[in-house]
This record gives sequence, C-alpha cells and structure tokens, in this order.
Amino acid sequence: MPKQEWTKINDILFGKKTDKKVKSRGWIYRTRSSGNIVFAILRDSSGTLQTTIIKGSLADKEFEDAKKALIESSVIVEGVVKKDQRAPGGFELKVTKFDVVNFADTFPITKDQSPEFLLDQRHLWIRSQKLTAVLKIRSTIVGAIHTFFRNLGYYEFDAPILQPNQCEGGSTLFEVKYYDNKTFLSQSWQLYAEAGIFALEKIYNMGPTFRAERSKTSRHLSEFWMAEMEAAWMELKEVTEVAKDEIRFILKEVLKNNKSELETLGRDIKKLEQMANAKYPTITYTEALDILKEKEGMKVEWGKDLRTIEEDKLMNHFKTPVVVTNYPTQIMAFYKPKDPKDPKTALCFDMIAPEGYGEIVGGSQRSIDIKDMTKRLKDMGEKIENYDWYFDLRKYGSVPHSGYGVGVERVVAWICGIDNIKDAIPFPRTVLRFRP
Ligand code: 4AD
Ligand code: MG
Repeated sequence: MPKQEWTKINDILFGKKTDKKVKSRGWIYRTRSSGNIVFAILRDSSGTLQTTIIKGSLADKEFEDAKKALIESSVIVEGVVKKDQRAPGGFELKVTKFDVVNFADTFPITKDQSPEFLLDQRHLWIRSQKLTAVLKIRSTIVGAIHTFFRNLGYYEFDAPILQPNQCEGGSTLFEVKYYDNKTFLSQSWQLYAEAGIFALEKIYNMGPTFRAERSKTSRHLSEFWMAEMEAAWMELKEVTEVAKDEIRFILKEVLKNNKSELETLGRDIKKLEQMANAKYPTITYTEALDILKEKEGMKVEWGKDLRTIEEDKLMNHFKTPVVVTNYPTQIMAFYKPKDPKDPKTALCFDMIAPEGYGEIVGGSQRSIDIKDMTKRLKDMGEKIENYDWYFDLRKYGSVPHSGYGVGVERVVAWICGIDNIKDAIPFPRTVLRFRP
C-alpha cells in the first residue's frame, strides 16, 4: 500500500484530532443502520470509534457498501472528527469516504458463546476486547522482564528446546522422535543455564516450556513461557530478593503502560498499586503449615507438597505475594540442595500470588553434591550418563549458584485478574486442546 498518514483511533479519543480531517483504517466492530444513516463502530489495535455515515456525504456506492458491510469487514475511512458526548468515547467521525477493503463473511462469533466454542474460534476470538487487553498487558510484562534483567547487567542466554535430560521429573516430559533417536521438549532452561553462568555469571531467558501435565486445572498449560534467571555466586536469600524485585518491577510497568486495559478487564488497580510497592514476606514451608493449622484448621502432613487448595488457604492471610522456602527435600527436584542447617528441607523457594493465583515463581540454590544428585536421579530411574556433562559443572570451578523461573502466563493471569490461564496466552495448549 502507498505510504500515507494514518490516524490511530486512540489519537482521536485523546482529542488530538478534533475538527480535523483524518484518514483511518480498521475493522467494523459493530454496525447498525436505518434509512439514510449508518453507525459503524470501527476498531483498530488502539481503540474503538463511532463513525457516522450519512447518505449524500459520500459517494452513493460507498454509502451502499457501508450499509452492506458486516462486522469484521476491513475498511479505510476518511472524515472529520467531532466531539460528541453521546458517542462512546466522546468522539465520532463524520465520514466523507468509506472504502471496504474486504467484505467479511458472517462472523461466527456472536454473544454468549461457550468457552469451548470460543477456544475453537481462537484465531478470531483474539480480536475481542478482552483478549486484546490481555495481549497488550502480556506484551508489557514480557518487555518488562527483559528490561529488568538487562538493567541489572544480566546477559540473555539461549538453551536448546530439544533436550535429552529431564529437569523437573520424567513424568511430565514430552517425547519427540529425533531422527533414529528420541529426545524431549524442554521442561526448563535451567540445566543449560548452569553451564552458561561459568562464562557470563548472570544470565536470563524467556522461552517456550513444555510439560505433559495431566492436571486439568485453571493454572496448568502443556506449553507455556517461562522467564528464568541463573546467577553465579548467589545463594538462596539473595535470589528470593531478586524475584521479589522482578515481580514488583513487572507490576509497576503494567501500571505505567496499561491502566486502560486493566480497566477494560475490570481489574482492581488499587490492589495492584499496593502490591507494586509493598514488601513481600518470606516464610518457610513449616511456618506455612503452622498458619494452615492455626488459622485455617487445616492439617497438612509434614512432607506433603502444598496443593492448590492449601496455597489458596494460606494466601487468605496475605495481601501480597509471599515467598515460601525450605520445602521438604524428599519432594523436590534432584538439583535442589539440602539446607545444611535443616537437611530434611531444601534450599529452595516458591513465590505464591494472592487472590487464588497460586505459584508464580519456583527456584532454588543448586546442589553441588554429585553423589547426592546421582542417587536421587538413579532412584527416579534416570540414565546417569545423560547427566555427565551437568556433573562436569561441579568439577571445574564450581561456585554457589541459584536461579528461578517465573511462569509468564501465571503472572499475566494474576495481573489481569482472569479466571483461566488459557486466556493468558494467544493459543493455549492443554491436555485436551492442541488446535487451532
Ligand atoms: O517450579 P517450576 O517447575 O521450576 C522450574 O522449572 C525450575 N527449573 C526453574 C528454575 O529454577 N530455573 O516452574 C517455574 C514456574 C512455576 O512457578 C509456575 O509459575 C510455572 O513455571 N509453571 C507453569 N505455568 C503454566 N503451566 C504449567 N504447566 C506450569 N508449570 C510450571
Ligand atoms: Mg514449582
């Protein structure tokens, strides 16, 4: 298309174009007509605007086209911007030219359709106001994570997606045929990051992560994005503070850039502001069990992992995210070291979000005890040869090091206040859904 000056709808809504002639382009969001007048709400990526098309103000053919164009038709319009209190957003465009670029077929999505139908129509449903708002916030969050780490001098470091090893337990691995062999889709960037820190010291990454999760919950995806960091010379306490800073930074960036999207989603902005500036407490797993017992009358046997229900009950007592450290070693991944001060627990942590969003971050200091890791891997039936390279990292200049992973969709879902993680990613993959 020839180069032109296009006016974005937001500029009109911000009052920058009042009484001026503009040329805009977008899609018909809603339309109604009576006799010689058509009201078409136009949408572009920045917002929606009422356009008024009156017979006689433009060529007859264009008026007929405007009358006939169904929702989601793509159009180019020219006209004059007028302030009008009655119009949604307070402005309207008096149209003098209306070119239909593509007459849309009847749009399959109408009001009140089931979530499953909308997931089938995901390629079209991502145009909805709700998903557009979520996707804009997601983009801010992803950008904020890059900025956060780069500002602290971290290097971006990439790991393979096809990996021969497990990191978080064999039961959730996706197997892939690899020529005449088999390999797996990445469960985590971490093991490779532990090699990378010996060159770069402080590294981070954000990438697709795969877990064959049988659990059909509102918090689990089979393919999700994890933002991970790993740092040499860092122990548990310090790494939990980095995680808290990261989450507060993400919240601040969203509040700076996406107030109107948060409003579209009906999110309580005050709550987010409080969390962006608050201190987040750190407690131990054992203290968490005490809170559950004393304040919720819930008895969890020491050694059992915290399930969704227990995380939610625990968070009844906090208004901000909380870091929980020292989970029982026996239920932790092979690389999480025993705490020398309390060896039945590990030097590890989760960060749990308030308001029922559960675990958003998981991380730990890393074990440097080859013997202990070998035993734990063998107990899980792993082939130890596959981990020789990983153990080498403990033989050539090993240092204390730590890292964690942020579940990007968990954070998006929480900040947006949406009830299912599926809406935090454009095309969700779950046990039952892998198309479109
Ligand atoms: O707690 P996880 O399993 O930790 C790791 O994978 C570490 N290797 C990370 C590290 O230390 N570098 O996963 C990290 C986070 C979780 O806290 C959760 O937010 C998210 O990833 N997550 C999921 N998000 C959506 N769907 C799933 N199935 C998820 N599994 C984990
Ligand atoms: Mg975890």
